[in-house]
Amino acid sequence: MKLSKLSAIIVALIVVDLGILGCQGQLQYGYYKGKCGTKDVEAIIQAVVRSRFFSDRKIVAALLRMQFHDCFVKGCDASILIDGPFTEKTAPPNLSVFGYDLIDQIKAAVELACPGVVSCADIIIAATRDAVVLAGGLPFQVQLGRRDGTVSLASLANLPPPDISVPQSIQAFQSKGLNAFDMVLLLGGHTVGVTHCSFIKNRLYDYRGSGKPDPTMNPIYVQILRYMVCPRFSTTDNSVFLDDPWSALRVDNNFYKQLLQNKGILPIDQALASDWSTRWIVQLLANTNLFPRLFNQALVKLGAVQVLTGNQGQIRKNCRRVN
Ligand code: HEM
Repeated sequence: MKLSKLSAIIVALIVVDLGILGCQGQLQYGYYKGKCGTKDVEAIIQAVVRSRFFSDRKIVAALLRMQFHDCFVKGCDASILIDGPFTEKTAPPNLSVFGYDLIDQIKAAVELACPGVVSCADIIIAATRDAVVLAGGLPFQVQLGRRDGTVSLASLANLPPPDISVPQSIQAFQSKGLNAFDMVLLLGGHTVGVTHCSFIKNRLYDYRGSGKPDPTMNPIYVQILRYMVCPRFSTTDNSVFLDDPWSALRVDNNFYKQLLQNKGILPIDQALASDWSTRWIVQLLANTNLFPRLFNQALVKLGAVQVLTGNQGQIRKNCRRVN
């Protein structure tokens, strides 16, 4: 065999082995093109998200939180969706996660189009993207091709608590391959949605046993929250918008502006604006229009954390159960 022919074969083998042509075992843009007959998988997902969004705009908050809680625990493998005792869903930080019914609805639609092709892990990522765009974000592409995990344990769901310090949070994100800049961008997910009074009562009434409110919280805001939202002896655990109420269903940079006015709700949110290592990022995002594009990029990065691809894991038939 001629040398040139031999080297061509070797190059071809390397290309196949590394998956350079087929990108096997890797996430790809447009992954489902041609894999579901003539059907457009991403368009099917988008149609279901659209119809939910217009009847329930809170779905954007549900999906963003779901993506974060899925990807941070054993990677973006849809382990958060599995039902059963002691699964991730039952872990305390996940008890207020919702939107699982939307994922079921999307799964039913894609299974109808092409059974056993579209992973639940990809559905979370693509649906979150669609909701972010509907809620005012910029359009963007997401990489797909994830496979679903087969293990889901509450004991593994150690998600960061709301009073985590900035250095500890940086470390938690770094352990997932995300840097401090990504972390500040991703916490921008709190541009939508709510928390509950129980998470912030100590900031409003008895900060670190002082009997006084958190001095880093805007005093007028403290009064508003005390009297209008979280009365001290209320028997209900009311919801509190994480961003200014008028902007709390919009994906925009108002969250960072709010932090610069000391109106952050969760301790970690406000801490981003006081810690020297992250304050400049908060200022940059509050004072420019960089957030929407950079947030999209950070979501794509979050969506690539410890993914299963190629022959790993499985494509679940039902997102709530392993096959
Ligand atoms: C250090 C990191 C984070 C901490 C400590 C944290 C903590 C929290 C807490 C305590 C809540 C309120 C839960 C409740 O009251 O039931 C919450 C809500 C939320 N989080 Fe985070 N979070 C973090 C990062 C993220 C990231 C990276 C995203 C998405 C990119 C995200 C998206 C959301 C959303 C959208 C909500 C509102 C959910 C709703 O309205 O139901 N969070 N987060």
